[in-house]
Amino acid sequence: MKRILTLLAVTALVLLLAGGVLADEKKADTKKLDGKSLYKTSCKVCHDEDSDAGEYTPMYLIIEQWDRFFDENYVDTHTGLAVSESDTTKVIDAITPAMLKAIRKFCVDGAADSEHPMTCG
Ligand code: HEC
Repeated sequence: MKRILTLLAVTALVLLLAGGVLADEKKADTKKLDGKSLYKTSCKVCHDEDSDAGEYTPMYLIIEQWDRFFDENYVDTHTGLAVSESDTTKVIDAITPAMLKAIRKFCVDGAADSEHPMTCG
């Protein structure tokens, strides 16, 4: 009998711990990604002033142009590009769909015809 109780207690403890871990993972998953920081680290590296690929900040395009870029041109224009000379990961693999969504929101929210046009300083 004592054994069964111990077993039950251990099982309950394991379940509790597992529940905690799962809850933490869920939190991390839904944590809001910061589009501005992501833009700086994932886009500005190639689109700063004087960059060969041309300077782009949110306010360089209007909302419609950003939408068209993300819907139609992003994959075409960025496929094959590596993140940097030292990191050969492809840009389109390095930027996950969730990251791209946050970056897109940052660009659209700061577009030239938005309420708060934004550079990426
Ligand atoms: C590794 C360098 C690199 C990274 C990182 C990068 N780009 Fe580019 N981007 C380029 C190059 C090169 C072009 C020009 C492609 C062409 O003209 O075919 C370009 C083109 C563009 C254009 C113009 C596309 C068009 O339709 O003419 C926009 C807008 C743009 N990038 C935005 C972004 C955004 C937003 C990000 C981040 C999600 C990003 N880029 C990340 C290199 C990069």
